[in-house]
Amino acid sequence: YTVPLPKNEPVLSYAPGSSERANLKKALEEARSKQADIPMYIGAEEVRTGKKKPLNPPHDHQHLLGHFHEGDASHVEQAINAALGAKEAWAELAWEHRASIFLKAADLLAGPYRAKINAATMLGQSKNAFQAEIDSACELIDFLRFNAHYMVQIYQDQPESSPGVWNRLEYRPLEGFVFAITPFNFTAIAGNLPASAALMGNTVVWKPAFTQIYSAQVIMEVFKEAGLPDGVINLVYVDGPTAGGVIFNHPDFAGLHFTGSTGVFKNLWKTIGQNIDKYKTYPRIVGETGGKDFIMAHKSANAKELATAIVRGAFEYQGQKCSAASRVYVPSNLWDDVKKYIQEDLKSIKMGVTEDFSNFVNAVIDERAFDKIASYIDRVKANDMNDIVAGGNYDKSKGYFIEPTVVHSKDPQSLTMCEEIFGPVVTIYVYQAERYEETLELVNSTSPYALTGSILAKDRYAIELASKKLVNAAGNFYINDKPTGAVVGQQPFGGSRASGTNDKAGSALNLLRWVSPRTIKETF
Ligand code: NAD
Ligand code: ALA
Repeated sequence: YTVPLPKNEPVLSYAPGSSERANLKKALEEARSKQADIPMYIGAEEVRTGKKKPLNPPHDHQHLLGHFHEGDASHVEQAINAALGAKEAWAELAWEHRASIFLKAADLLAGPYRAKINAATMLGQSKNAFQAEIDSACELIDFLRFNAHYMVQIYQDQPESSPGVWNRLEYRPLEGFVFAITPFNFTAIAGNLPASAALMGNTVVWKPAFTQIYSAQVIMEVFKEAGLPDGVINLVYVDGPTAGGVIFNHPDFAGLHFTGSTGVFKNLWKTIGQNIDKYKTYPRIVGETGGKDFIMAHKSANAKELATAIVRGAFEYQGQKCSAASRVYVPSNLWDDVKKYIQEDLKSIKMGVTEDFSNFVNAVIDERAFDKIASYIDRVKANDMNDIVAGGNYDKSKGYFIEPTVVHSKDPQSLTMCEEIFGPVVTIYVYQAERYEETLELVNSTSPYALTGSILAKDRYAIELASKKLVNAAGNFYINDKPTGAVVGQQPFGGSRASGTNDKAGSALNLLRWVSPRTIKETF
């Protein structure tokens, strides 16, 4: 058995005059001018509760894109019932038919829906065209295609047999339903979490972040158009504690597929633990969580390359990638040049609305995030051990705009070297170039997280040492590159320690969490 061999979806350039730019502009204009009325999807129903909540672009918060209909505990109950009702038929549907639905969804996203999903991500989550393209188009398409490929590899993995004995592994879905809780910052992750569990034969209740509903609805539309049967994925807009209050008390709760912050995930895990006697099966718990991702440079690194890695790694999508560089260790011999290059780079970078294709930096996701990030910047300014090398200003009058901010801290354990800020703030510690090995210890011990990290060096011994000393400091470790931009099928993504269960999204390792294999021995 096989499915079409996946290739990474090519990233379109959106160059001036290109047809993709024209299509995207049209989709943006259409979305901005109409008032969306976004229902929940439960079983065969589009549910409009009448409790309408506004959707506004973070970069233009007075503009109304439309509304979504918020649900309550009763809608979560309905979604669970729809998932359980759809379960048997879906689990029995042969794998090639399940794969075919998600492969068709990938083709729809690559073709007729590409502009629509990118426009939704640009307007709803304030990503520029390039960031939307690599996320809601390419990464989501890649997840759907590569997952189908990995599913077949899993099914083909069978035990040895012997004369007179035929041993088999049957990869059953989990017994019950899966709860997918998704974050705002990647449309691709939001789509992948319900889709990967469903591909393996599970049915799902999907609760997105309220700030990602605008693009989540487009994903659901695509799944439906691709032929996803009713009830397989049920999309509800219910606040987390209310949804959790119903789901984590349900005997058929069989798995949590979560991406979001560490604090929330730990609390969910505790709740599941407290309720363990209520469940028919031990629930699978998969969580990709926070980060305090690093760039470590050796004295042999190239200063220009390092500055580029810092600017792109820290400020693409306003530093709101889970993989974004937020603490950097620069050797003293490179600092003057690195500082100069960063300042030059940032002068040429434009900040503004996503619809203007020349803006590199857009707004942060909402007022809560804005206030939190601004308060970190204020505390940096109030501390004599810190110096703001670039940026430091913010303004929320039209949109939630925060300048890309570079902090030089003399204290390697300062607040912004340690805590996840999740915004466009990067802190740099300049270490004595000869103290490389002890600085590696510092990189390893400063943060409880272990999501992504980079080493920049020309010296091969220095690279090897960093690779060994930082073996548990990052689930995705980059040599001579920025720590963002993992590509499905090439760099399976996920972190350990406080960054997650490291079940590597976009790989067979993740899909294996959504099956409960049955071993069959038959004797002749
Ligand atoms: P968040 O934790 O605020 O929200 C994530 C999801 O959890 C949302 O759907 C939210 O509504 C839900 N939620 C919140 N409280 C809940 C509760 N009590 N019960 C049930 N659900 C609840 O995170 P966010 O702001 O959407 O995303 C940013 C965070 O996600 C950052 O910490 C980032 O590092 C992390 N992240 C990690 C990865 C990764 O792969 N490791 C990827 C993306 C984002
Ligand atoms: N693919 C995303 C990144 O690595 C998650 O930034």
